[in-house]
Parts: sequence; structure tokens; C-alpha cells
Amino acid sequence: MGSKPLMDILNKIRALRKQIRDHNYRYYVLDDPVISDGEYDALLRELESLETQHPEFISSDSPTQRVGSTPLSKFESVPHRTPMLSLSNAMNTEELLVFDERVQKGLGVSKKIEYVAEPKLDGLGVELIYENGVFISGSTRGDGFTGEDITQNLRTIRSLPLRLRTEFLPAPSLLEVRGEVFISKAGFQSLNKTRELSGEPLFANPRNAAAGSLRQLDSTITADRPLSVYCYQPGVVKGKSYANHSSFLRDLKNWGFPVNPLIRTVNGIDAAVAYHRDMEAKRNDLPYEIDGTVFKVNSSSYQDELGFRSRSPKWAIAGKFKAQQATTTILDIAAQVGRTGAVTPVATFEPVFVGGVTVTHATLHNQDEIDRKDIRVGDTVLIERAGDVIPKVVKVILEKRTGDSQPYMLPAQCPSCGHPIYRSEDETVMRCQYLSCPAQIRGRIEHFVSKNAMDIDGIGNKLVDQFVEAELVKTVNDLFTLSYEDLLPLERMADKSARNILNAINASKKTTFAKFLYAVGIRNVGEHLSKVLEKYFQGDFQRFMETSAEELETIYEVGKIVADGIVRFWSDSENIRVVESCFRSGVELVDVQTSLEDQRFSGMTFVFTGSLEIFTRKDAGEMVEKRGGRSSGSVSKKTNYVVAGPGAGSKLKKAESLDIPVLSEKEFLELLI
Ligand code: IVH
Repeated sequence: MGSKPLMDILNKIRALRKQIRDHNYRYYVLDDPVISDGEYDALLRELESLETQHPEFISSDSPTQRVGSTPLSKFESVPHRTPMLSLSNAMNTEELLVFDERVQKGLGVSKKIEYVAEPKLDGLGVELIYENGVFISGSTRGDGFTGEDITQNLRTIRSLPLRLRTEFLPAPSLLEVRGEVFISKAGFQSLNKTRELSGEPLFANPRNAAAGSLRQLDSTITADRPLSVYCYQPGVVKGKSYANHSSFLRDLKNWGFPVNPLIRTVNGIDAAVAYHRDMEAKRNDLPYEIDGTVFKVNSSSYQDELGFRSRSPKWAIAGKFKAQQATTTILDIAAQVGRTGAVTPVATFEPVFVGGVTVTHATLHNQDEIDRKDIRVGDTVLIERAGDVIPKVVKVILEKRTGDSQPYMLPAQCPSCGHPIYRSEDETVMRCQYLSCPAQIRGRIEHFVSKNAMDIDGIGNKLVDQFVEAELVKTVNDLFTLSYEDLLPLERMADKSARNILNAINASKKTTFAKFLYAVGIRNVGEHLSKVLEKYFQGDFQRFMETSAEELETIYEVGKIVADGIVRFWSDSENIRVVESCFRSGVELVDVQTSLEDQRFSGMTFVFTGSLEIFTRKDAGEMVEKRGGRSSGSVSKKTNYVVAGPGAGSKLKKAESLDIPVLSEKEFLELLI
């Protein structure tokens, strides 16, 4: 074997990559493809097969490398070299004029200022880092100083160049670019349609959908989401300086970045105001959501002269749009029960076109909100869409109220199961707490079988749906009476999987007080509190069910709201019946290993931050809990210790500012032994 054939292969691979990159650019950035999808796929397959035969030639910027293979266990935090600032807002024209006056005053000039006018996309700000023209990493904005490393997910965005086009313009050694990741209106619609069909919860708006997609630890999920990006701002750029913002944007385009084609330079604030009005008039016709405009002083020397406020530049402003409003009449108000038992009043109204979509429903949130706004069936109301598909009722137009309307009251019973609904002191929302309420049963079962609850392997959400649809499981206890014959007819169920599931169900019956209690799902009784109660009741569930609120309140960490919630839960005799039937079906609460002896961290809260080297964060947390303490994700005055590893950021700072003792991992270890 000479080296020539290998060289040939490498050259072929390089040529294919370039071709695919060019087609990507034409398709995703210029929106002007020159080959068919089929031809494109053929090129990609050819490259994939060469790379499979020669894995030594795979490089991170190859178009085949858009989806990382191993899901992450968490996102690492990454500091931004320069903070990612936000923008101050102008709520109306007047405030735009004031901004311009301030700019002129700050510069000591009295003349028309040149601005770059940009649509303000309603997505998520990200930072992209390129070294010598190759995409290296990317992160979320986070708190502006530190973000999360979402490189794997950003790679999946097809319009994002993994390697810059450098035919006409060399790449700087370091290029940081900021931009907005978003989902188009059409992409949002189709994503929600797919989710509806598969029974997954819907996203409220394109922004949430984009955020949810970027937050996936498994980038193959992100790859299936219709994410786009527009770049609009430099971070650190090494070896290149710009006289103005528009020339930076021009370079971005030359390097192959997607840059919003609606960006203009405008001369003077009047032209900026005209641009703002034009965008506001166009917003419903744009393929993506924008919530305003952004104006940036074009000249870099002016930008430098103006400088920054603490969190935003003085040389830029966001012009906000007015909320999109319309009036309509309320046809009906109905109470709906959500998966977690929240009973929410929902208004149906005469369909009305607002903000580019026809809307028919609005949540009225809770009884307080209805009372405060005095919303009644038959009323004419002003509604508003603020990015969300579901609009909100701003107010009732009282002048249009007809004489015979009645104030609306939520029913006293759950519309799904008829059990009484209650309102806890800490909430405005009403809830149904019945364990077997049909509206909640899916969610209840999903929780019941989950890892930290009964830990029944092999029962995913799809199977839960089938159980409920086939009416095999109406209450959590029905899981324990499932038979082989019940399971076999279900979709995608074979002999082996049915047996495995039955075995898993059987094995789960031997559990602990804490896991079972957590599985039952009493509001505010999470994993930690379940363990606290387990210790207090020493595994005696019967006694726990009969305990008074007064006694519960004597337990450290159990407050009045939790105690009342527990007593209320057991005041529904059908909840007791379900739990007792679980015991009759063989659920057995075995002794917990946690001994009552070593409670050295009783009542203490630990926060772990930065990267740990000796323990995983989960193990460290468990060791604290075993000794009677708890671990929390955020630092507050109540935190006793912060254990900080390398790379600790904002939590460490907060601990220092609150004078909370900070331990190294080693010092923490010493506390344990
Ligand atoms: S520039 C120093 N330009 O709006 C200037 N931001 O409220 C920093 N945004 O965090 C931002 N479109 O996520 C800029 N054309 C645009 C934008 C834009 C949307 C977002 C961005 C930023 C937020 C500030």
C-alpha cells in the first residue's frame, strides 16, 4: 500500500466536504439551492461512507459531524471572555428620540447619527467561537458572565457554519460571534403538531420551543428540531478591527454566517423610527417572531466613546413593539384539570385574528384573576398576545356588558373526577388531589414508576398511554394486578417484554417508605421530605396516614403548608383505599439502611459547585442526606456550606458575598470521616 491512494481518498473527502458546505450555505443561508435534496443526500452518504472506512480522516468540522453521539450528563459552565450584555428598552417613539438625544450629548455632537437597524428576534442569545475559521464551541448567554456549553446542540443547526468560507476573506485566529437561535413560526407549528400526535406537552411559543430544544442533553433530539440562527454582534475578534458595525456584519456574511437580510443602516433617528414602524407593520408577515427592533450606533469609535452602563451598552437600544390586541366576546368559561391536578378556568371566545393568528381560548389562571378583572360569560374583552399562542385577557369592556350576566365561580368539584377541589394557602390555583383522577392518571403513573419513585423499569410514557387507553390501569394500584394476558395484546409487546415488565413490577413491590411515599405524590412532599418522614415514622406508613397536622408540624423541615397538605391528602378516603390496596397487592416497605445514629448534618444545607473530582455530585448529595442534611442547587442565606471544585463561578461568588464557609472537596471529605 503506497500513500498515494490514501492521499487520493483524503482529497476526495476534502472535495466532498467543500461541496456539501457550499450546498448547505446555498440552501440554508442564501435560500437558493442549486441541487435537489436527493443529490445532496447522495453527496452526504458518499462522504459518510468514506469516513466510515477511514475514521482517521474524520474532523470535527466535517458536515457529517453535526450530531454528537453520546448524550451529556450535564452542561458545563463556560465564562464569556467579554460579558454578553442586554439592551435597554424604548417603549415608544418618544423614548427612541430620548435615546438619540443622549447619544448626541454623550458624543458632544449635534447631527444625524448613523445607526444600524436590526429586527429584534425573540429567541435565545448564544455565543459562537471560531478558531482559525473552525467552529470550536458555543454557549448560552446564561447570566451574561457565564453560560452553558451547548456546542453539541449548536452543531446541529444546519445554517451554522462549522467552517468559515475563506476564499475571499481570511479567518481571524479567534472570532467570537453572538447571535440569536430561534424557531420559525412554521417550524413551531409543525413541531407542536408532532408533539400533539405523540401526546407530548405543547410549547407555548416559538421561544420556549427553541429554549427547550437547546437545553437537550441528547443532541440527537436537538437535531430533529427546526432551529435557525441569525448572527448580529461581535465578541472578541483577534487580529481584526472594524471602523463600524456594518462592516463587521458584511464580513459575517462573507464568512458564510446567516445574517438577517432585513438589517439596514439608517441615517438619523427619524429614519430609525420609520424603520421601527415598518417592522411593526410587517411583523405578522415575517416567517419568525420578532418583539421589536434594535438600533446600534454604527461607528466603532462612537461606540467606544459612549461606553457601557452596568449591564447594557449606551450605544444601542431595543425598540419594543406595542402588544398586539383585539376585542372579542367570551362564549364560555370552563374549568380544566391539568396533569398535575391544577384546576384552571379557560375562556372560549368568538375566534379573533390577533398578532397573525386566530385565537379562540385564553386561560383565566385562577379565581382571583377572574374576580379582580370581573370576567363573565358574554363579556366583551380586550385580549393581548405577547409572544404566546395562548393570549391573555387584559380587561373587560364594561360599557358593552349586557344586563343579565353573572359573576363566574369555579366549581367546588373537580370536573374530571368529582372529588372536592382545594386551594392551599401558598397558592392561588385550585387543585384536585385525588390519586386516581382520570385527568391526572397518566402523570400519576409516570411519576409512580419513575426511577426515584417505585423504579419500575420498562414502563415508558407510551406504554402508560396504552394502559390508560385500554382502561387496564385506572389507579396506580392496578399496575400490581396486571397480568400477562393484559399485556400481550398491547402494541409492540412481545412475550419477553411482557415478562420483563411483570418481573419489574413484582420486584418494585419491595421498596422503602420514602420511595413509596414519594411515588404516591403528595403535593410538596418530594424525595427529601419523604426521607425525613421515613425517619420520623420509622417506616410505619399506617401511623403516618393517621398523624395530625399538629404532630407533623413538630417534625424539623415540615411546615404548616406541608402538614396541612398531607392531612388533606389522607382526608380523601379514596386515597387511603388506593394506598391500602397497594399494600394488599404485596407492596412491602423494607427497613431503611439509613441509621438514626449518624445525623451529623441534621438540618444543614450543602451546595456543590464547580467540577468535583472525588465524588459525583449525586453521590456527594446522597452522603449529605444519609447524614441528615440536604443538598441544594442554589446558594442562599440558609446554606451552611458550599463545596467548590475547579471552575466554580457565580455560586462561589454568592457564597463569598454571604460569608458562607467554602470547602474544597477534600475538606468536605474530612467532614464525612
Ligand atoms: S445585540 C450589546 N442584536 O436581545 C448588545 N441583540 O435584550 C447585545 N437580541 O440578549 C445584543 N436580536 O439575545 C442584539 N439584533 C439583535 C438582537 C438581539 C435579539 C436579543 C439578544 C439579547 C437581547 C437583549
